[in-house]
Amino acid sequence: KQQSLKQKYQDYFYVGAAADQNSYIDHAELLKTHFSSMTTENEMKFESLEPSQNQFDFALADKMVAFAKSNQMQMRGHALVWHRQTPQWVFFDETDNKRSKDQVLAIMKNHIDNVVGHFKGKVDYWDVVNEAIMDDGSMRTENESADDQKSWWYGTIGKDYIAAAFHYAHAADPNAKLYYNDYYNYIPARQQAIYDLLKSLLEQGVPIDGVGLQAHLNTIPSDDPNHQSYYQSIENLEKAIQLYASLGLDVQITELDVSLYIGGHKYEKSDFYTADTIPAELDEKQAQRYADLFAMFRRNSQHISNVTFWGIADDNTWLSEFDSGREDFPMLFDVKHQPKSAFNAVMDF
Ligand code: XIL
Repeated sequence: KQQSLKQKYQDYFYVGAAADQNSYIDHAELLKTHFSSMTTENEMKFESLEPSQNQFDFALADKMVAFAKSNQMQMRGHALVWHRQTPQWVFFDETDNKRSKDQVLAIMKNHIDNVVGHFKGKVDYWDVVNEAIMDDGSMRTENESADDQKSWWYGTIGKDYIAAAFHYAHAADPNAKLYYNDYYNYIPARQQAIYDLLKSLLEQGVPIDGVGLQAHLNTIPSDDPNHQSYYQSIENLEKAIQLYASLGLDVQITELDVSLYIGGHKYEKSDFYTADTIPAELDEKQAQRYADLFAMFRRNSQHISNVTFWGIADDNTWLSEFDSGREDFPMLFDVKHQPKSAFNAVMDF
């Protein structure tokens, strides 16, 4: 019988997967066999748990947590404070006026008290704040040009929103481990800014246990000649891990996937792959990329407690943009839930 991921990695780190309200059921076998940790992909986001003020809905998340616990999996809670998937009422009142700092802090506290309190003793790790830093290393504010990039947490509370969120979360469950989570950790300016943020939180006595690296990557990082060599480089991800760990923080890889497409490349529809047309050579390249990543994770395993994939198998991934007809195949298991070359690659050491 084939060995499982979680057994193979038990001396290194927990291996997790993000599941949603459907996939934890129809991918139950893979979850139970291979994974020792689970994240809710959307079901613990602000808009899911508190769609209108003080009206909490824990039904879906409760079922998923029960599944995880009954299968001895660690549970990652994702995400308490984020600029996306958070309802407008949090920041704007009925007449569309921006709320005051004190009002939004009270809303944040109430949300965190209820959510972290509800899952006390069941959620092991919380992504407390997600994506607060921009590529140039500046703080994400309400002035970012695209609407979906704006942070109204910053726009109402100011930079102290980060520390406040950690204090509230710690008060609600002193035993839960608390993480700051962000993406593109291979970009030097971003890496430095995240390091500086973490360091200043620690110096202020903010209760933070670790840092999450999302790690949404591509098999072929980019064909853009303007992209610097650090773009998606494993070496720079390793630097980030070691830099953050030098602060005494735990590191987790929280949202790993490796797209089959070239990063940023403009494809014609006719170039999209389907499950049956993935070139063997590309499947092998993806496997090699996963092998290199996991070799790096293993040699840094003293810093890393959990490596979580953002999905389970290729039939359910956020990278498949169904409206444009472009499916992606970024996971270790294929659309039929069978292990791919990438699975064999991470198991081969
Ligand atoms: C994504 C989910 O996978 C999608 O289903 C949803 O439509 C949008 O959010 N970074 C994060 C995750 O921190 O919460 C995002 O999840 C992916 C990017």
